[in-house]
Amino acid sequence: MSSTANTASHYPTIHKDPTAGPFNMKDYDALYKAFKWEQFADELNLPRENGINKATICIDGHPPEVMERKALIWHSAEDKQEFYTFADLKRETNKFANVLKSLGVQKGDRVFVYLERIPEIFITLFGALKLGAVVGPLFSAFGPEAIKDRLEDSGAMVVVTSPELKDRLDAIRADLPALKHVIIVDRKHSQLHPPQAHEVLYSEAMAKASEQFTAPYTDPDDYSIIHYTSGTTGKPKGAVHRHAAVIAQAATSKYILDLQPETDIYWCTADPGWVTGTSYGMFGPWALGATILVYEGGFKAEDWYKIIQEHHVTVWYTAPTAIRMLMKAGEDVAARFDFSSLRHLCSVGEPLNPEAVVWGQKVFGHVFHDTWWQTETGAMHICNYPCLDVKPGSMGKPFPGVEAGILDEEWKPLPAGEEGHLAIRPQAPSIFRTYWHKEELYNSRFKNGWYITGDRAKMDEDGYYWFIGRADDVINTAGHLVGPFEVESALIEHPAVAEAGVIGKPDPERLEIVKAFISLKAGYEPSEELEKDIKNFVRTRLAAHAYPREIEFLAGLPKTRSGKIMRRLLKARELGLPEGDTSTLED
Ligand code: WT7
Repeated sequence: MSSTANTASHYPTIHKDPTAGPFNMKDYDALYKAFKWEQFADELNLPRENGINKATICIDGHPPEVMERKALIWHSAEDKQEFYTFADLKRETNKFANVLKSLGVQKGDRVFVYLERIPEIFITLFGALKLGAVVGPLFSAFGPEAIKDRLEDSGAMVVVTSPELKDRLDAIRADLPALKHVIIVDRKHSQLHPPQAHEVLYSEAMAKASEQFTAPYTDPDDYSIIHYTSGTTGKPKGAVHRHAAVIAQAATSKYILDLQPETDIYWCTADPGWVTGTSYGMFGPWALGATILVYEGGFKAEDWYKIIQEHHVTVWYTAPTAIRMLMKAGEDVAARFDFSSLRHLCSVGEPLNPEAVVWGQKVFGHVFHDTWWQTETGAMHICNYPCLDVKPGSMGKPFPGVEAGILDEEWKPLPAGEEGHLAIRPQAPSIFRTYWHKEELYNSRFKNGWYITGDRAKMDEDGYYWFIGRADDVINTAGHLVGPFEVESALIEHPAVAEAGVIGKPDPERLEIVKAFISLKAGYEPSEELEKDIKNFVRTRLAAHAYPREIEFLAGLPKTRSGKIMRRLLKARELGLPEGDTSTLED
């Protein structure tokens, strides 16, 4: 188990007003039984004349008064601001859909967006969705190796990037035969280099593009977005969502985030490169017509507090690592700011410490509501609602329409109180439809009609779920999943590295950090300098969040007789735990 989450919280239950928020918890059981996902599309009044297209639903299809509402408030890292109404975004995304069309992009083609956190991420992703392209966001901290894996696997035809990030793409361009066009968003620099033959300057193309565009019919089952996510073995795989996922994203934005679109200013701190940044940084809230705030800057307690105060943020969706960092910055920093606008706080990505739940109440006047879900589920699945009593340390209860279970090793449900595999009946419209071109792997995630999440958990007598840890070797560092194989692959490309084994090491702030055990090639000696060099090598090639913060040099790594590095053993030794079954260990 890679996590140390608290499964039997000693914190007392925090009682909530059972009538708060859009659910009435007194009706939870009845609501749960009667629930139908299809009803949500009716209830939310999502426009469906032309099938279901996320772009039409999120941007174009709102009533006239909503079209004039601010959809996006962008606060730049340099403290500048820009606003876009839904009408503005409709016009801009129409133009971008026309740009793509003129480049020959057709329905189903893959368009990836590799940008810093700027408004063009939203314009280009939604413009591509409108056309029927399958979009893929790429986190701007990714290095050449990480973007190559994703662009190669998806066969991306277009990449939208910036002059600053383009160098990393150029470094691997020769390995991407399917990539035909690179669109350069020249927001900050009009032109760094004269564009090459396959390159298009965004500003020029947009200036020429028509503002009129009609989305083609989009089937609810058509693929909309690919998110790459890490597993135990192999490189990251592309979890594919369909357009209909927006129904679940909108429903949970209403009932769990409790968004009230007429009045809320909603801040999701996740980067659009990750699923939280799309499902809840775009789709769900915009389908409801809510105003989203995007802050380009990085984490700093004072800056974040200033953002909340200045923009009168009402609903805030963030992550445990960030909350722990705010806690560490101290209450005296928090005390300098006015948080009276806040009315609902939620968290996702890692186990939320009971201390953090309660700290929220103390400092912001509201508890943090934990939500559990995954890239694969596409939307929140097990959650705390405004009206549900909070048991600090618990992820809450399944959303109506979600059947969850705790399964034994034969994939049969276990009774309350017992620990097992957390599984979900694949019913929500947001659940992934495949791993891109990896159907077999996708099928392997289903047993007895359940989707096996890869997490271990238990359910208590009251139906609350408690996270225990991952069932696999995947590392969760500050809410980002990192596959040990990816890091090991990057490490062994370093000239000095012979073998590498990577584990997650428990960390008080980041939940886990990536730790690498390395044996060196003949002629190399461990040194501080070499350690630094190896770290930097992974950081710049793979990703800034995935490099090993700790490296330990070993003469050799423990391997099975078939030559597989035994990460389990490395981890047990690191934690001082029993080594377990070592019968397959090589001599
Ligand atoms: C994995 C999914 C879903 C958005 C971000 C992550 C862990 C997620 C919680 C939570 C404990 C959590 C799980 C899960 N996780 N939320 N509330 N409590 N663990 O998406 O990258 O696909 O990661 O993150 O291990 O399986 P993802």
